[in-house]
Amino acid sequence: MRKIHKVCVVGAGLMGKQIALNAALHGYLVMLNDSLPEAVGKAETWADEYLKGRVAKGKLTEEAAAQAKKNLFFTIDLEMAARDADLVIEAIIEEQSAKEALFRKLNELAPKDAILATNSSFMVSSLFAGCVDDPARLANLHYFNPALVMKLNEVVQGPHTSKETVDALMDFARNTGKDPVWVRREIDGFIANRIVRAVKNEACYLLEEGIATAQEIDTAVEKGLNYPMGPFRLMDLTGIDLSYLASKRVQDETGVKQPGFEAIKAKYEAGEWGRKTGKGWYDYTDQK
Ligand SMILES: NC(=O)c1ccc[n+]([C@@H]2O[C@H](COP(=O)([O-])OP(=O)(O)OC[C@H]3O[C@@H](n4cnc5c(N)ncnc54)[C@H](O)[C@@H]3O)[C@@H](O)[C@H]2O)c1
Repeated sequence: MRKIHKVCVVGAGLMGKQIALNAALHGYLVMLNDSLPEAVGKAETWADEYLKGRVAKGKLTEEAAAQAKKNLFFTIDLEMAARDADLVIEAIIEEQSAKEALFRKLNELAPKDAILATNSSFMVSSLFAGCVDDPARLANLHYFNPALVMKLNEVVQGPHTSKETVDALMDFARNTGKDPVWVRREIDGFIANRIVRAVKNEACYLLEEGIATAQEIDTAVEKGLNYPMGPFRLMDLTGIDLSYLASKRVQDETGVKQPGFEAIKAKYEAGEWGRKTGKGWYDYTDQK
C-alpha cells in the first residue's frame, strides 16, 4: 500500500474545501478540484480569508498559514489533480449517477494503487465498487460539518474494502488531527448520524404522544443528559427540511413508518424549517 503524501479532493463545496484545507494545514500536498470554475474560485477566496482570520486571532502563525497555502492547489483539471494522488476524497453533490461517473473517471486517472474514498453521508462505497478495477481500495471516509473543526471521521469498511485501506485511512485521519472510528460494516447513517436520528425519532414520538412540548423535551435532554443542544433545537439549526427529507427517504426505502414523522412533516409543510426560515420549533424572528 503506498504511503499517503498527495491528496486529491474532488468537489470544492461546503465539505470539500474544508477537507482539503484541513489536510493542507497538516502538511499534505492537496489538489482541490471542482467541475465549476466559480466553485474553485470561491473555495480559494474562502481559504485565503479563513487563514487570514486564524492568523489575526492568533490561532495560527503566519508561517503555518503560508505553508498551508503553499500545500493547497485549486484546479478544474481533474486529470492533473488525480494523476499522482495517493488518496482521492470524493465530496461532490449527493447524486449517485454523478458519483458513479466520477469513480469511473478516477479509475482511469488516478494511480492504480491510490485509495479512493467517498465523504458521502448517505451512499455506501459498495455502490461504486463496480466502477473501479480494484474495489479493495475503496471506502467511505466520512467527515462532519464543519470539517475543519469536528474531530470525528468515520472510516466505513465495505465488503470489498481491504483492511490495509481501512488502516491507511485511519492513519491519514489521525495525521490530520481527527479521532477516527472504524465502522466495520456498511450500515445506513453509519454511527453518529444513526444515534442523532434515534434521539430525534424518540423526541418526536414523545411530542406526538403529547407527553411534553418540544421545548420541555429539549430541556430534559440538555439539563438531564448534558447534551449541548436538545433534538428540536438541533433540528432548527440543521434545518427541519433536511430532517423531513432524510426521514422520508428512510420511510420510502424501508417501508417502515418513522416514529414522529407526522410532527416533522407538519413543520415541513408549514414552511417552518428552523433558523433559516425564522421559525421552527422555536421562533427566531426577533433575532434577525
Ligand atoms: N453538508 C454536510 O453537512 C455534509 C456532511 C458530511 C458529508 N457530506 C457529504 O459531502 C458531499 C458534498 O456535500 P456538500 O455539502 O459539500 O455539497 P456542496 O453542494 O456544497 O458541494 C458539492 C460541490 O461538488 C461540485 N461538483 C458536482 N459535481 C462534480 C463533479 N462531477 N466533479 C467535480 N465537482 C463536482 C459542485 O460544483 C459543488 O461545488 C455529499 O456527498 C454529502 O453527503 C455533507
